[in-house]
Amino acid sequence: MAQAPIQEPPIHEVQRPHRLRGEVRVPGDKSISHRALIHNAIADGIARVENVGPGEDVRSTIRCLRNLGVEIEETGRNAYLVHGRGLGGLREPFDILDAGNSGTTTRLLAGVLAAQPFFSVVNGDESLRARPMDRVIEPLRSMGATALGRQGDDFLPMAIRGGNLHGIEYAMPVASAQVKACLLLAGVYAQGTTHLIEPAMSRDHTERLLAAQGADIRTDGLHVWLRGGRPIQAVDVLVAGDTSSAAYWLVAACIHPDAEIVVRDVGLSDGRTGFVDALRAMGADLRITNERTLGGEPIGDISARSSDLHGTVIGGSLIPRLIDEAPILSVAAALAEGDTVIKDAQELRLKESDRIAAVASELGAIGAQLEERADGLVIHGSGRLVGGKGDSHKDHRMAMALAIAGLVSETPVQITGASSVTISYPGFWDDLRDLSLA
Ligand code: S3P
Repeated sequence: MAQAPIQEPPIHEVQRPHRLRGEVRVPGDKSISHRALIHNAIADGIARVENVGPGEDVRSTIRCLRNLGVEIEETGRNAYLVHGRGLGGLREPFDILDAGNSGTTTRLLAGVLAAQPFFSVVNGDESLRARPMDRVIEPLRSMGATALGRQGDDFLPMAIRGGNLHGIEYAMPVASAQVKACLLLAGVYAQGTTHLIEPAMSRDHTERLLAAQGADIRTDGLHVWLRGGRPIQAVDVLVAGDTSSAAYWLVAACIHPDAEIVVRDVGLSDGRTGFVDALRAMGADLRITNERTLGGEPIGDISARSSDLHGTVIGGSLIPRLIDEAPILSVAAALAEGDTVIKDAQELRLKESDRIAAVASELGAIGAQLEERADGLVIHGSGRLVGGKGDSHKDHRMAMALAIAGLVSETPVQITGASSVTISYPGFWDDLRDLSLA
């Protein structure tokens, strides 16, 4: 009998269009979507959450919440009614909670589970099982929870039996919005005050939403205080466009020689717009218009056009504000003139892939001149990329960064593992096609 042919992984090829033009609305923000669902699941009342991010990560949060007894009705395209269970209403899950590829699902839910008087286990895919969880396990224990993980309590699967939590004062060793959100969610249940001190500013969607829900929360610079033990209220959320998804199109417009793109209704909170600051420092022609507020978050339209980029230094407190944009900013740096240094960014090694190693090997494979450093990259911008094969490392942000590289490379870029874009942006390939003009 003839052997079945070995299946090659699906490859997506992107080639350089003559022009990039148009307007795009990116999907609802992934970070805000997770929070709108989780916060409302433990609130009093029913909330309408709309423009929810359509990616698989947010689906993982919905699946886990349903397995905790939360009724989440799908009422339309990316629209849900979340029936809040109140602080005491979650039920012990019958099975392991599967967070898929989603670090945000895992770490935010860990904060809620740490307060529940029942047993739960969280697991995820191969990538998530390699990401550190001691950063939440350790402080949750000091708040009174029992939490265990594989390999000395560092990795999933993670088992939690919730406790009667008490607030803590905690100087966070890393600027991580996921850790901050985890501890604030635990803090909602805890007796007394949870006081967190961040080493640098990270995204603040949790603080904004908890304040809108009537939590007793106060922020001042890098400090946040939350007085717990009192219910939070359901609040409707219309989710802003995902800032991180917008970054791909804005970089595409900057590096392509004949381009103009407008991204509408994008989240503009300070904790997310570090890439705008970095691109402007590189000489990008970016304009922000129509600024307003949506669901308690600042939003606006961002337009970008072909720009002559030059190298820059990206480090220090800018890093947490652009942590998810390092791969796409590396593409911009490769197309700029001169050196770009990305430093103080060792956290990049702990994302869906080791993004320092992945950027170095895959952008290197398509012609970028760059060097890997322990805490970042040095990219010798030459204004051109050759093209060729690049692998996503099963990481959605690597797949999208390689696709944008393909829009300017001299020969096409073939991306293996391209389907990983569904984690945050299932419509990515359609938008790419619509913006590319022959
Ligand atoms: C996120 C925070 C960031 C980011 C992730 C989403 C969030 O992680 O990389 O994609 O929604 O809080 P860290 O806060 O761990 O850096």
